[in-house]
Amino acid sequence: MSEQIIFSGNNLTEADIYKELLPQIHLLVTPGEPVITSLANISAALKQSFPKISWAGFYILKENTLWLGPFQGKIACSSIAIGRGVCGTSAKNRKTEIVPDIENFPGHIACDDGSRSEIVVPVFRGSKLYGVLDLDSYFYHAFNEIDQKYLEELCDFINKEVLTRTSGSIN
Ligand code: SME
Repeated sequence: MSEQIIFSGNNLTEADIYKELLPQIHLLVTPGEPVITSLANISAALKQSFPKISWAGFYILKENTLWLGPFQGKIACSSIAIGRGVCGTSAKNRKTEIVPDIENFPGHIACDDGSRSEIVVPVFRGSKLYGVLDLDSYFYHAFNEIDQKYLEELCDFINKEVLTRTSGSIN
């Protein structure tokens, strides 16, 4: 097996990278595989496609707490309460949070001292909150509405094509 993410050139805009990446992610996740397997590869695909990303991963909701799920990057906080930090705020408000400078976000949780900016997108299963997708960067202002548009599209795909599976998690 040799799964690869391939781009048509080296000077693509970030929008172009997303436009080429998303269909490849659709093919990368295999119907029937456990949800955790798909989410693991999705976090890897994001991190390897954007040099600006220092950490990419999921926190999954269980009993009012977000628990660390599949991710790529340095070790991170195992759990985050709803309403705490950027992840907990996005989960509480059920909307995307873009933080251009983490020092200007009161309550930001620093899992990695090097982080400078962040985007968190809620992930739904049907209309219920499933968790969040969190991307961090060592650069200020790394994420904007282009990232928001395509990451929300990705999370919509996860809702409709990944979280509809009954194959459950690996325990
Ligand atoms: N910075 C996040 C915590 C998670 S780590 O970035 C991986 C927050 O404030 O919720």
